[in-house]
Amino acid sequence: MAANDLYQRDAAAIGTLQKLRFFPSALTGGAGVRVTDQSGRSLLDLSAAWGAAGLGYGHPALVEAVTKAVRNPAGASVLSSANLPAVELAERLLATAPGIADAKVWLGHSGSDANETMFRAVTAATGRARILSFAGAYHGGTAASMAISGHSVQAHATRHAGLTLIPYPAASRPFMGDVTGEKVLELVDHLLRTTCPGDQVAALFIEPIQSDGGMIVPPPGFLKRLVELCRRHGILIVSDEVKVGLARSGEMHAFSHEGFTPDIICLGKGLGGGMPLAVAVAPARILDFAAAFAMQTLHGNPVSAAAGIAVLDTIRRDELALNAAMVGDYFFASLQKLRQRHDIITDVRGRGLAIGIELSADRAKRYAAKTVYRAFELGLVLYYVGLESNVLELTPPLILTREDVDEAVEFLDRALSDVEAGVVSDADIAPFAGW
Ligand SMILES: Cc1ncc(COP(=O)(O)O)c(C=O)c1O
Repeated sequence: MAANDLYQRDAAAIGTLQKLRFFPSALTGGAGVRVTDQSGRSLLDLSAAWGAAGLGYGHPALVEAVTKAVRNPAGASVLSSANLPAVELAERLLATAPGIADAKVWLGHSGSDANETMFRAVTAATGRARILSFAGAYHGGTAASMAISGHSVQAHATRHAGLTLIPYPAASRPFMGDVTGEKVLELVDHLLRTTCPGDQVAALFIEPIQSDGGMIVPPPGFLKRLVELCRRHGILIVSDEVKVGLARSGEMHAFSHEGFTPDIICLGKGLGGGMPLAVAVAPARILDFAAAFAMQTLHGNPVSAAAGIAVLDTIRRDELALNAAMVGDYFFASLQKLRQRHDIITDVRGRGLAIGIELSADRAKRYAAKTVYRAFELGLVLYYVGLESNVLELTPPLILTREDVDEAVEFLDRALSDVEAGVVSDADIAPFAGW
């Protein structure tokens, strides 16, 4: 590496606490579905920066909105004054979330921020200390969002004392031999009547597709029945749509696939189009419960809010939910063909442009790590997720085309073959711990 190598400068200047690295990516720009690295190489980004770049990079609507807002900023937050972009964003969000009675909006910076605030608010407002969430769930990286998560990467975290983790049923992860969710429903019913009394539980946090846990699509009807069961005990339902919401699943909200409407929706990542922005949409009795309860200096930032408005308007105007559904179907079909050529692939699943490719966990440990490393060398950006680090995650920009899919599948095909042929060594991936 040259002395002015960007990756080396990053290593020297920025601590590793916040890094989740898979290969030596060092970016200097981006346009559309591609990022540019320090050598001028253009890479097709199938991650969209973990879903944050939902409109891709440098989208004209975003550039215009942010430029305008930063040139004439309406203050810096909603703490001590109203500001036009924040109010307009909140009004638009309320219009996209019909079904939540008497709803209002809370504005924050990140998915962690939104989930943490909702955890604190629902327990304080209801006087119920307990929370239900899923084993494998990733609700964030701050203390209180980790406290209600169940991901293996956060084994170091202190969980909330009142947290009960329940299994997320899936074909690849049967619970007591059952893949339908029936046994989990029995378990939750039992818990709510015994050791985790339903009238002490404030909320159930749901990922409508468990993404960081392995891009797991729940069995049909399971979440709907679970929601009904919890509602019998007056438990609030929080849908964490941070990664798979906002058109990515092919619907505006991913819970729509599951036949239930939550009481609270958390959105982040793609909502800011790459700017720090997250929101919770929740009943006024939660969001008006107290003043000065969950605030940070820049919450409701008008520049971030302007980005959010541009994202929502573009999703609607360009019918990006439809694009995600159609291009996602095409992607899914192409990956099924890819699967026939690579027996290391044990499953392809997802909805819309939220897709997981599961690799055989026991046949080749670190195979996923080698595949994403090789894909990067070839010109493709993607990462892996899953409690066993064996699921390639695809959350590309919602503007992805079929031509992009063809290119991506070709790269993936080559990457998998190259890894099979031993092109990537253990030493190559050793500096990249991933997760
Ligand atoms: C479902 C879900 N919720 C919350 C978060 C946390 O979001 P952030 O990293 O923006 O704080 C993530 C991040 O991956 C996520 O996937």
